[in-house]
Amino acid sequence: MQRRLTIEQSAEDFKAIILEAVQKSNELECAVYLQITRGVAVRQHLFPAAPVSITMTVRPVHAIENEARDKGKKAIFHEDERWANCYIKSLNLLPNILAKQTAHEAGCFEAILVRDGYITEGTSSNVYMVKDGMVYTTPLSKQILSGITRMAVKKVTESLGIPFIEKKFTPEELLQADEVFITSTTSEILPIVNVDGKSIGKGNPGKLTMEIYHKFKGFILAD
Ligand SMILES: Cc1ncc(COP(=O)(O)O)c(C=O)c1O
Repeated sequence: MQRRLTIEQSAEDFKAIILEAVQKSNELECAVYLQITRGVAVRQHLFPAAPVSITMTVRPVHAIENEARDKGKKAIFHEDERWANCYIKSLNLLPNILAKQTAHEAGCFEAILVRDGYITEGTSSNVYMVKDGMVYTTPLSKQILSGITRMAVKKVTESLGIPFIEKKFTPEELLQADEVFITSTTSEILPIVNVDGKSIGKGNPGKLTMEIYHKFKGFILAD
């Protein structure tokens, strides 16, 4: 795929800029949010001549309390109404926001998106199910974001000798899973214990999920 947004800075440049901003913030635990756009221009549909605009925020965040993780979270299924290029981390998040808000209003943490009968991902997370000691997740394609936590989970499961199977699965299969969890940078690895009012497994965070979580934390803290 041809890149249509030219960014002059290298990954190393960004690393230095981010480290500097984090140091200046004096925060011990923070979220860095980087937004790159085509710049400020009059409203029109063609690429503007304006220089690329890079904005970054650093704000304190607190990891999800252990207590909340130990209880697990609830989710709903929701039609995936997003566009065809969900692998691009874009600012056009209206369908994600609408689905997440619907989940929130139903007392749930996340909406698990379903397209053509198969689970794609969450509104802001990747989705996994555990069945018979194996971890299943949606294969990478244009339909999902290749999350960095997903990459870490792949490494962690491999190091634990747990098969990591990238295969599509349906909502019905997810409801029959032994365990379900979601991942993202901010929620890390979060057990999902109930979807659409139906308990997953025994309705508690799964053993394998927590094993993966603890190993993941070890990897992060060692970095
Ligand atoms: C749609 C979507 N999928 C997955 C993720 C998880 O990505 P990461 O693990 O890089 O935070 C996110 C994070 O914002 C997301 O918005």
